[in-house]
Amino acid sequence: LISRAFRNELEIPQWRDFTAKVKEIFEDTRKVTEGEVASYIPQLARANPNWFGFSMCTVDGSRCHLGDSKVPFCLQSVSKAFNYAAVSTDVGYEAIHKYVGHEPSGRLFNEICLDSEQKPHNPMINAGAILVTSLIKTKWPMAERFDFIIEKYRKLAGTYPVEFNNATFLSERDTADRNYALAYYMKEHNCFPHNEIMNLREELELYFQLCSLECNCETLAVMAATLANGGINPLTYVRCMSPEACRDALSLMFSCGMYDLSGRFAFQVGLPAKSGVSGAVMVVIPSVLGMCIFSPLLDRTGNSTRGVAFCRNFIKHFSFHNY
Ligand code: DON
Repeated sequence: LISRAFRNELEIPQWRDFTAKVKEIFEDTRKVTEGEVASYIPQLARANPNWFGFSMCTVDGSRCHLGDSKVPFCLQSVSKAFNYAAVSTDVGYEAIHKYVGHEPSGRLFNEICLDSEQKPHNPMINAGAILVTSLIKTKWPMAERFDFIIEKYRKLAGTYPVEFNNATFLSERDTADRNYALAYYMKEHNCFPHNEIMNLREELELYFQLCSLECNCETLAVMAATLANGGINPLTYVRCMSPEACRDALSLMFSCGMYDLSGRFAFQVGLPAKSGVSGAVMVVIPSVLGMCIFSPLLDRTGNSTRGVAFCRNFIKHFSFHNY
């Protein structure tokens, strides 16, 4: 019995009841069929609209996987939360927020705009995320910068894989006029710390590479659980992020993580979350668990329709809403 307990193989009745209800909510959410698969690059357009997966991982390492939890997807904008936490752990809060704000922009995620201090509004929209990416180990060669950050992701995921999808990266780079425009606009306004000497093309490539990191629900749930656990991976017990960086990332996810739906999502679900255009939604219940819902059908705000519906449904049954 004791060795099973150490291997996390003991099922406590509450966990069984909890996962049974979650499975019911998951099956109920399958009825949602609205939304469109992202089509701006072929790698996303080829996603099967029926894919639907779910995983959760608690801060004590218990896990539950449902449906297509092993289907790989690219992190896309979900990476923005981890990049922010990684850079914040590395250089600290002030070094980041000298260059990027905290406010929801109230605009589209890729809109060309800056706040009243001429900073991108927050790290969860494209402008802010490009800026945060440019702060990753600024003086290192590009290959080392990529290795540094993918190693961070792998630590966050513990025993689960994180890969790089080169086809997605190449397509992203080929269809990135808006992101180039955003980066040049920021350079024009002296937004970057090393504005004069930087190679914008390389910075954008790193940003696209991080959007092209590939995992599945099972991996992303563990990464989310690491954020829920103050930066310590619940499976390996390795510290991956500072507790302050996790807290700050979760605060920004709460106010800005779901694009134009962020206010309504915070109101209705009351939890920090981050979505990506591949159809992933990562949700964190601080000190309790991390979860990932994946379904490629997106609403007009770029959020997974089933992902959002699942969260609303989940909160109706469990009182995890922050308020
Ligand atoms: O930068 C972009 O446009 C994309 N590669 C990532 C954006 C994204 O996931 C937006 N999602 N709703």
